[in-house]
Amino acid sequence: MQTELSFAPIASLSTELLAVLAADTQTAKGSEAKPQPTLLTSDARVQAAAAQVLASGEYKAGANETLLLHAPAGVAAKRLLLVGLGKLAQATVQNIREAAGTAVRFAKPRGLRELALALPSAESLPHAVALRTAVTRAAVEGAWIGDFDADTYRSDRRDQSIAQFTVAAPDEADRTAIEAAVAEGAVLGESQNFARSLIHEPGNKLTPTILGQRAALMAQQVGLGWEVHSGEMLAQLKMGAFASVAQGSVEPPALIVLRYEPEGVADGPILGLVGKGITFDSGGISIKPSENMDKMKYDMAGGATMIAAMRALALLKPRVRAIAIICAAENMPSGAAQKPGDVQTAMPLDPAQPGKTIEILNTDAEGRLVLADGLTYARRLGATHLIDAATLTGAIAIALGKITAGAFANDDESYGRFEKALASTGERFWRMPLGDAYADLIKSEIADIKNTGGRFGGAITAAEFLHVFAEETPWIHLDIAGLAWIDDTKPFIAKGPSGVAVRSIVEWARGFAAGC
Ligand code: BES
Ligand code: MN
Ligand code: ZN
Repeated sequence: MQTELSFAPIASLSTELLAVLAADTQTAKGSEAKPQPTLLTSDARVQAAAAQVLASGEYKAGANETLLLHAPAGVAAKRLLLVGLGKLAQATVQNIREAAGTAVRFAKPRGLRELALALPSAESLPHAVALRTAVTRAAVEGAWIGDFDADTYRSDRRDQSIAQFTVAAPDEADRTAIEAAVAEGAVLGESQNFARSLIHEPGNKLTPTILGQRAALMAQQVGLGWEVHSGEMLAQLKMGAFASVAQGSVEPPALIVLRYEPEGVADGPILGLVGKGITFDSGGISIKPSENMDKMKYDMAGGATMIAAMRALALLKPRVRAIAIICAAENMPSGAAQKPGDVQTAMPLDPAQPGKTIEILNTDAEGRLVLADGLTYARRLGATHLIDAATLTGAIAIALGKITAGAFANDDESYGRFEKALASTGERFWRMPLGDAYADLIKSEIADIKNTGGRFGGAITAAEFLHVFAEETPWIHLDIAGLAWIDDTKPFIAKGPSGVAVRSIVEWARGFAAGC
């Protein structure tokens, strides 16, 4: 998708489809408070073209509600599409992101390859969203996110992706900043889609080795440092927890390392991004029920998230160093697989010391095992601030639904930065508790810890397991199990892999850049 920026009057844009935002400006409450759909443009010709349908009451400007007008009078566009934001007083940047996605997803199945979106004038928006650059960036992100469909394996696939998306600015103000916002939005949206394209791949097409190759190819394209290590390196580093997950599969594991080292940044923090890259999770000997087991191809979503976040950092070039560790393996049952009751030894932070021992009670709690060694390795490589992403527990979806993802942190300052990032990316995370009372639940009688903590508070005991390896290093854990896969298509996003957390992690990282 090409993203263009136009400063021409929107009524004179020759385009297949001109999308204009609308919102409900009714502020009265009660039964007589009929919706008051209002266009968020000051263009008189577009206003005139839509006046009749707005007066009819047929269109209420609800969130992502659309209405199409063909051959609008006095407007150069072939079609005029109204896209709703819902109540204007409550509109956020996320509404704009979704509206752009909705416009793109409206155009795609109709065979339109090109469209334009009129950005609202700053004055037409409530104060919270009146930031021109934020609105511009969100619109471009939303268009990219809307353009993605997971249909590459269909023989009857017609590539309906959008060739050109034009953002039409309401006026010439802040021109340079708006241009930068368009470029940033494209990097972020495309990076999120890159994660989705990896997550979409089935287990047979994307083994740990192939995930390593895809990461390396991307790294070469954007200029990241990279290394992909195999089983021998795991043995050398004494990554006994990670290796124990891989040992049941004929597919070798891959330890993927990506490095972002901006020129002239020799000190300050080193961010450690750690991702769970289980390319298929059968559960191992503690095998999962067959219903929905196919979905466990997306158990590498956390790893894909980190690979994609590093891509965005390489292109946006914030002045902060980052290193990503993706622990990729397949969790399979076999004669060589680890068994419940086995004891494994994790990688020690200090090579001269012994590693922590783990009693394996359930081989399906494998994500925390690979992440344990991933977190330790990131620390050994000098990471000062850790963030991990993983489809770690079904329990997080029980706790928060498939609406909000879980976040855990041992450090308020770092989490504060993450919360700030969420405000601009529109992603929904909720901070969950940690604490000794939870940590007690994973104490083992025969080893240092055990890999499950029982039925209750499953997402929290999993987080406490990771905490044992993050120790005092500032650390954020994102459990994205409930959000990494979207079950039903929405107006602004296709079902399938969501790419959740990519933009928020990038935004969090940018917050550490020199001067921030
Ligand atoms: N990959 C799963 C978690 C998961 C479940 C992700 C559903 C996405 C959707 C993870 O490896 C797992 O199996 N967790 C177990 C942990 C339990 C054995 C302690 C779970 O959640 O049941
Ligand atoms: Mn599992
Ligand atoms: Zn898993």
